[in-house]
Amino acid sequence: MIKGVIFDLDGVLVSTDELHYKAWKRLAKEIGISDFKREDNEKQRGVSRMESLQIVLDKGNKSYTEEEKEEFAERKNNYYKEMLKELDGSAVLPGALETVKLLKEKGIMTAVGSASKNAPDILEKIGLLTYMDKISSGLDTTRSKPDPEVFLVAADKLGLPPQDCLVIEDSAAGVQAAKAAGMKALGVGPYYFSLGADYEAENLAVSINWESILNEV
Ligand code: G6P
Ligand code: MG
Repeated sequence: MIKGVIFDLDGVLVSTDELHYKAWKRLAKEIGISDFKREDNEKQRGVSRMESLQIVLDKGNKSYTEEEKEEFAERKNNYYKEMLKELDGSAVLPGALETVKLLKEKGIMTAVGSASKNAPDILEKIGLLTYMDKISSGLDTTRSKPDPEVFLVAADKLGLPPQDCLVIEDSAAGVQAAKAAGMKALGVGPYYFSLGADYEAENLAVSINWESILNEV
């Protein structure tokens, strides 16, 4: 039986994807990479900051030192954080708040499992922080999805064994991470049908049979 639900953040609870894209695009231009496109940005879903940077740099043909890469990642994060200042409850994705409330009413524990180091700040800004029992983010982990670390840390913080947890994800790497953690996964978002998840829903606003998902053994 499922006793805890672990939500990915970007693309599941909040639409920060566009802001990540704009910030990476700005950095890419500054360093002479002009063909960084939306489809490249799709590959950055669920991927850590440094790995996301590598996806940008792979579009160019120069090599950089570790120091330069650190500076690029920091510069992008500053652009991103500048845009996050405008973030509020209107960025919460359809059905996300209602889902969190419904699960809490059912006595289910809730957590966030995200690669983002900005996760606590974002949750606070969009008004979802108080609905989460625990947060596991890029600040708690060293390995990126598809490594299960971020979800295992979340389960551990909730005090639940992995098999009692369900993960909600919008990325293939995230679904793989959930499976590697020994957890069931619900895939949502524009690619929900191709993530390899146990359950699928276009988004959290569509009707989802929670009774069946939570009680399946
Ligand atoms: C999420 C997003 C990724 C992002 C990562 C790190 O997983 O889907 O696109 O690269 O978080 O975010 P951060 O806020 O720490 O740069
Ligand atoms: Mg995501």
